[in-house]
Amino acid sequence: MDQTAIKNTIFMRTLRRESCERPPIWLLRQAGRYMPEYRAIRQKVSFLELCRNSQLSAEVTVMAVDQLGVDAGIIFADILLPLDAMGVGLRFAAGDGPVIDRPVRASADVDGLPTFEPAEKIDYVLEAIRQFKKSRPECPLIGFAGAPFTLASYLIEGGSSRNFDKTKLFMHKESAAFHKLMAYLARLTVAYLSAQKSVGADCLMLFDSWVGSLSREDYEEYVLPHSQAIFEGIKGLAPAIHFGTNTGGIIDLMASAGGDVIGLDWRVGLADTWARTPSLQNKCVQGNLDPCLLFAEPELIAKRAKLLIDSVGGKPGYIFNLGHGILPGTPVEHVKGLVQFVKSYRPAKGAGAVTPESVGKI
Ligand code: CP3
Repeated sequence: MDQTAIKNTIFMRTLRRESCERPPIWLLRQAGRYMPEYRAIRQKVSFLELCRNSQLSAEVTVMAVDQLGVDAGIIFADILLPLDAMGVGLRFAAGDGPVIDRPVRASADVDGLPTFEPAEKIDYVLEAIRQFKKSRPECPLIGFAGAPFTLASYLIEGGSSRNFDKTKLFMHKESAAFHKLMAYLARLTVAYLSAQKSVGADCLMLFDSWVGSLSREDYEEYVLPHSQAIFEGIKGLAPAIHFGTNTGGIIDLMASAGGDVIGLDWRVGLADTWARTPSLQNKCVQGNLDPCLLFAEPELIAKRAKLLIDSVGGKPGYIFNLGHGILPGTPVEHVKGLVQFVKSYRPAKGAGAVTPESVGKI
């Protein structure tokens, strides 16, 4: 593996907050159902079979990188795979999303969770990383895991949720057991991410997709220490991205929990949030177009991408992305067009930049 070539890519240089000619771009869920080739593979294998098949997972990762021309790949897998390894009965039911057959609902359920080595039980993801790196050694690869709160929400709710009522009740009523569950998930995640780095991941990403459902008090008390433990545990291994959605109210706390990059969604102004949040000052920022914008006319997509890039004003450490994953049904040509636009557009230095002084005037 040519580490010098990887280090000199625009993605890795931006992660070091070096000044670059343009922002690097990759897209959340860049491999998925919006791609006809992906759907063709899914005609033959289920989603979990695809994840467990290292060769196919590596191929799907390469497919997205090659087709779109993005500056980084993200290994094709899912944040819920460690739950499968826990033996709680993970299924992906057609139309219903993920289901956990044996959810965690009591303190005894937490005590019953098994201890295991992710490198052994989830070895297929590690093998997919090796295979991707073998076929595209020059392309930076993002390894990832779910953050304790987001994983705990699936374990406790038994699937996806709108209000996270069961999770929050467990958190408030069974605080000791909830903390124990979060600490268990944090330890597992450190081991899992470290293993991904050891087989070739260049960057590690922590998905706390649903943490924006929490109050500041609950984030500080029940989540922050555990997410912090993960970033402490992987410190120095590789640059880390910390991502969540709907996090406008807690973004300063999330940034202080850790990560070299903070992912933002479209509900906040990216440059504005970056400029006004003290704990974001020494960090990179990633985001944040609304994935629904990709259904619109290419002219509007380019216009909004330009506005976003201009608002950053060439500040080092900005990574172009969506605020959340590409949705099924998104026209592939629109996604390709967005990548081409971001790779070819050169903003005038400082053009349209949001600075601490201009915050509030826009
Ligand atoms: O290209 C990539 O971004 C890499 C692959 C990736 C997937 N899931 C593939 C996937 C990544 C990084 C994830 C992370 C993930 N998984 C998150 C965090 C990011 C986010 O979206 O907030 C979450 C919450 C999950 C859990 C999950 N996986 C749900 C709720 C669902 C069902 C909803 C849906 O979109 O279908 C999945 C399934 C899933 N994960 C699919 C893909 C491509 C669709 C499965 C299919 O082919 O039917």
